Amino acid sequence: MAIVGAGPAGLLLGQLLHRQGIEAVIVEARSRDYVEARIRAGVLEQGTIEVLREAGVGERMDREGLPHGGIYINYEGMRHHIPMSDLTGGRAVMIYGQTEVVKDLIAARLKDGAPLLFDCSDVSLGGVTSGEPVVRYTHDGQDRELGCELIAGCDGFHGVCRRAIPEDVLTTWGREYPFAWLGILADVAPSTDELIYAQHERGFALHSMRSPSVSRLYIQVDPTEKIDDWSDERIWSELHVRLASEGWELTEGPVIEKSITPMRSFVASPMRYGRLLLAGDAAHIVPPTGAKGLNLAVADVTVLAEALTEHFRHVSDAALDEYSDRCTMRVWRAQHFSWWMTTMLHQDPGADEYGRELQRSQLRYTCSSEAAMTSLAENYVGLRLQETAVHHG
Ligand code: FAD
Ligand code: DHB
Repeated sequence: MAIVGAGPAGLLLGQLLHRQGIEAVIVEARSRDYVEARIRAGVLEQGTIEVLREAGVGERMDREGLPHGGIYINYEGMRHHIPMSDLTGGRAVMIYGQTEVVKDLIAARLKDGAPLLFDCSDVSLGGVTSGEPVVRYTHDGQDRELGCELIAGCDGFHGVCRRAIPEDVLTTWGREYPFAWLGILADVAPSTDELIYAQHERGFALHSMRSPSVSRLYIQVDPTEKIDDWSDERIWSELHVRLASEGWELTEGPVIEKSITPMRSFVASPMRYGRLLLAGDAAHIVPPTGAKGLNLAVADVTVLAEALTEHFRHVSDAALDEYSDRCTMRVWRAQHFSWWMTTMLHQDPGADEYGRELQRSQLRYTCSSEAAMTSLAENYVGLRLQETAVHHG
């Protein structure tokens, strides 16, 4: 088995298969330092927490992660609490950085002595529709060819695997948004106990965190903005204005990292082509509002690991044949939720007065109706796989 990409999808798939005694080689384009330093998502759904524990990599997460049972939504200067755990029978999320999940998975793999190759260049696929697929790459200055039975394409949105599927086979859907997120990591204790999602006329803002002493904050900016034009002072000033609510103070601190991320929605289907199986960002992207990207990648590889286990144990290929359909249903639920959270909370520069009133109405409803809050809560903490499946008859 070959796995292309050592992001959360590839590494977790490797871990789940290893525990079933299935050998895989992971081929990664970047260095270990680079992969372990990339700052991305930070919210783990209930289902993701459980999968990581079952995969034997939940120990540090349980020690250092911050369980959260609710979020705040801020609009018109007022803060509203959504008690997610109360609304979902006790389900919750865990604040634990993607970077930490990746570090834990790499450490587990190296401890097991399982193959994980960093710094591979010129990665390409061959024989995907033949009986003998290969992954070609250059490593340590040598051209190599890895023959395998199946290839898992876990190489993210810009990887090579999705592009190995002919255009007439793949259907894609997508949307670009007229804004981006400027994110900072700040060496200061969070000014809030739970995440604050803020809608403001100057644009969206989010107060998140990574630990009791490190804050993660985001503001909506125009996608053409350059990070060099955003001094720390300017960023903090926007955060103060957009997150403001009566009687609450935002504490500033040294900015450790800052970057701008574009926002898009994207789905490619089917997620299987011959001997190639796509998982995670290689097959779909969501805008970050609602924190679904990492969790979707985990859900994909959980389904894939089960299907591959049945395949390699010669039980049946039925689950492998159903892989794409099973994932796609969950993917579309997360697409809708992420799009909905994004449009409810961001300032659309092209919106007219009618659009703005619709947005305000939706915010009022979401923060006051228990039914509406419950819908947000169950999507945020993550639906169980079977809740997104089609029930026949
Ligand atoms: P990735 O994490 O992208 O991993 C793919 C891996 O494949 C990478 O290690 C890459 O180096 C490697 N690779 C690429 N090309 C090749 C190749 N040709 N050969 C070999 N290896 C290759 N989600 C949230 O929920 N909240 C957030 O705040 C958030 N912020 C984000 C910020 C950024 C800048 C980005 C890009 C994404 C963010 N996401 C966020 C989304 C979330 O991080 C992703 O959904 C998640 O990383 C998906 O995991 P993955 O393993 O599928 O893909
Ligand atoms: C974070 C990212 C998100 O996209 C989100 O909705 C909440 C938190 C974060 O990086 O902490």
